[in-house]
Amino acid sequence: MKFTLATVITAASVVSAAPTYSSEPKPLALTMMAIRSASPIHFGRVDASGQKFYIGLDRPSSYCPSPPVPVGSCPSGNYTSISWGQYGPYMNVEVPGGQQIYIAPDNSLSYTQAHSGSMPPGSTTDGFTLGPKQENTLRHIDHKSGGFLACPAKKDVGPWKVFVGSVTDKNAPSGSAADCLGFLNTGIEFIGEQFGAWQY
Ligand SMILES: *[C@@H]1O[C@H](CO)[C@@H](O)[C@H](O)[C@H]1NC(C)=O
Repeated sequence: MKFTLATVITAASVVSAAPTYSSEPKPLALTMMAIRSASPIHFGRVDASGQKFYIGLDRPSSYCPSPPVPVGSCPSGNYTSISWGQYGPYMNVEVPGGQQIYIAPDNSLSYTQAHSGSMPPGSTTDGFTLGPKQENTLRHIDHKSGGFLACPAKKDVGPWKVFVGSVTDKNAPSGSAADCLGFLNTGIEFIGEQFGAWQY
């Protein structure tokens, strides 16, 4: 399915017809979408896979340990959802301990493995900001080191790996940072399910 802003908005309005009520305010949950007009990544979903983020995957890599978790209790894992807390973004997962989002020393946008808070030395979790909801329902996701970049596996061929601030030729998957495209990263409220996945 081609994932466009129109499908996002349609899906969201269908889901919001059946609200669920909870006594505790639920933290804001979002999916991420790239804006870079007239490019292959425009309206591209930002998906989690193998502790990194990509645009142009069919679906995220996600996992639910069933058993012991009853199959019916597993989140679909079809979408990459993040939450935004006091200390910035983290994966919207059910796994105890959660999964923190950080920037690795090579500037790739990353998330910790389940059951481990470990990050390579030189990583940072600081500097992310989430803007207010715009009239078009999108929120701008920014980082103080600069914008987001999507770097293709090969020139013009995805999937596109997501970096923050800058990329070196050595760290660009295609071997050339000139192949990367800057994009505006946006958040769309994720209300279809409580969690994006048990874990990514
Ligand atoms: C998740 O994807 C599967 C396989 O495509 C589909 O059958 C299922 O309905 C999806 N669930 C949700 C909640 O999107």
